Parts: sequence; structure tokens; C-alpha cells
Amino acid sequence: MREIRNVAVIGAGLMGHGISQVAAQFGGYNVYMVDVKNEFLERGMGMIRESLGKFVEKGKITKEQAERIFSMIRPTTDLGKAVSESDFVIEAATEDANLKLEIFRKIGESAREDVVITSNTSSISITLLSSAVKRPERVAGMHFFNPPQLMPLVEVVKGMKTSEETVTTVREVAKSLNKETVLCKKDSPGFIVNRILVPALNEAVFLVEEGVADPEEIDKAIKLGLNWPMGPLQLLDYVGLDTTLNITQVFMNEFQDSKYRPANLLRRMVRAGLLGRKTGKGFYTWESAALTKTK
Ligand SMILES: NC(=O)c1ccc[n+]([C@@H]2O[C@H](COP(=O)([O-])OP(=O)(O)OC[C@H]3O[C@@H](n4cnc5c(N)ncnc54)[C@H](O)[C@@H]3O)[C@@H](O)[C@H]2O)c1
Repeated sequence: MREIRNVAVIGAGLMGHGISQVAAQFGGYNVYMVDVKNEFLERGMGMIRESLGKFVEKGKITKEQAERIFSMIRPTTDLGKAVSESDFVIEAATEDANLKLEIFRKIGESAREDVVITSNTSSISITLLSSAVKRPERVAGMHFFNPPQLMPLVEVVKGMKTSEETVTTVREVAKSLNKETVLCKKDSPGFIVNRILVPALNEAVFLVEEGVADPEEIDKAIKLGLNWPMGPLQLLDYVGLDTTLNITQVFMNEFQDSKYRPANLLRRMVRAGLLGRKTGKGFYTWESAALTKTK
């Protein structure tokens, strides 16, 4: 494997922009950030600028360093070119298996043979995604947490065909981004953290739906009772209600167990476009891309 200099991040959303920033800021990599429309790329670059501004405000980096990091991230809609010029790929597009399979097929067509291709998927089978490329042994899960700029963990996930060499490379790249890793030996849906977290978030929505308590009360209870840094409904707003709903649906299909049934309220809110902070409203109202909670 060649030295890793260029990294392609596919998707410029909540996770993709953060992963792109982390790759440039901590890994020192040149980053291609890919999305399907210029407006999504502009939004992603805006969020990166905002996040870098916070690092500057806190005195963690200088203004000059922020500018340099920003200039290392190249937004593009040309996935083929970005991947063909990259030494490592992190796919962080929408949580939809068919969409990701199509993206993996395209990545597989453009990537050099020795390039490791990872997915930040929260729940979709790495083995399935790897089936779309010629060298499935080069595919692994690289699951970051939200926001990637701050959260210290990456779950490294083995698909059925993932090689040990690939696992080692992913762990090394994660380490270069200042992340701790845990290894999931099987690509079981939700891996470790979401297998525990997502049913808990869904259960919090059931509590609202059943009228047991208001969102603020539920969040306060879990913060003070379980010492979570934020309550489950606020966390849902951060994660995205659509992403969470998609994960519960993957759990339902894969485990064939109705205990993972999503709350009706979760479905209805997603249908109404109340997706959380990314649309300005979920269980709470959010002011701007600065994501200041207003209520
Ligand atoms: N939100 C979280 O807290 C979180 C945490 C860990 C992992 N993840 C995973 O990260 C991935 C992205 O989630 P997100 O929260 O950033 O979603 P998001 O909706 O904020 O962003 C997804 C982005 O992917 C883009 N996209 C769609 N099709 C594409 C294509 N063909 N090529 C390039 N870009 C494309 C969309 O335009 C969008 O900008 C999902 O797999 C999700 O499960 C999410």
C-alpha cells in the first residue's frame, strides 16, 4: 500500500463535513469532499468554516492554521476523479443501502486496486457493501460519532471478507485522526454503540408518543439519572430523525424482531420533515447552522 496523502470523503452532510475536517485538521491529509450538488458542498464547507472558527475561538488553533486546513479540503461533485486520485476512501452518504451500493460500485470502478474503501454506515452490512466492488477484502466499516470533530471513538468493522491488512490500515488512519478504535469482529447491524443507543432513542420517542412525559422532562431525567451529557431527544435531533428511523428499519429487517419497531411519532416527524437540527426543527427548534438550541 502507498503512503496515504489524499483522502476522498463521499457525502458532505452532518458526518461527511466533520470527517473531511478531521482528515485535514488532524491527519494532515488532502481531502476531496464529494456530494451530488454544489449547494450541499457549499453547506458542508460552511459548517467546516464554522467549526474551525470555534477551534480558533477556543485557542486550539490559530486563524492561519484554520485557513490552511480549510484550503486542504476540495469540494467536488466529481466522485470518479476524487476517488481515482485518493489513497483512502470514507463513504459517508445518506443511510440507504441501495444508494450506498451504487456509490460503492462507482468507487470500485475508480479506485486504485490497493486503496482501502470504508463506510461510515451506522447499520448497513459491510459485507453487502463490499459485494459491489471487485476487492471486498479492501472494504471495512469506519464508524465515526457525531460530531466527528469532537467524538474520540471510531468503530472499525470487519465484513466477512475484510482482510487483516485492511483492518490494520483503517486502525492506523483512525489513529492518525486522533481517534481511539474498537474492533467489531462481525458486521452485525448497529455494531456496538448503535445496537444499544438506537433502541434507547426510539424508546424515548415512545414515551413522548404515549404522553408519559414531555421531551424536556425525558431529557432532564436521563441526563441527571444516567449522567448522559445530553438527553435522548436532544441527541436524536443531533443524529437526525431520518437517520435514526432508517437504522431501526435495518434492525427490523436484519434481526426479524418486532422489538426494534420504530415509534409511529418518529415516522410521522420524518414524513413532516422534522429531522432535527439539520432542518431547524425536531423535538427542539434550532436557530442556525451554528445549531444553537433555542427551546
Ligand atoms: N448523523 C449521525 O449522528 C451519524 C453518526 C455516525 C454515522 N452516521 C452515518 O453517516 C452517514 C451519513 O449520515 P449524515 O448524518 O451525515 O447524513 P446527512 O443526511 O446529513 O448527509 C448525507 C449526505 O450524503 C449526500 N449524498 C447522497 N447521495 C450521494 C451520492 N450519490 N454521492 C455523494 N453524496 C451523496 C447527501 O446529499 C447529503 O449531503 C450515514 O451512513 C449515517 O448512518 C451518521
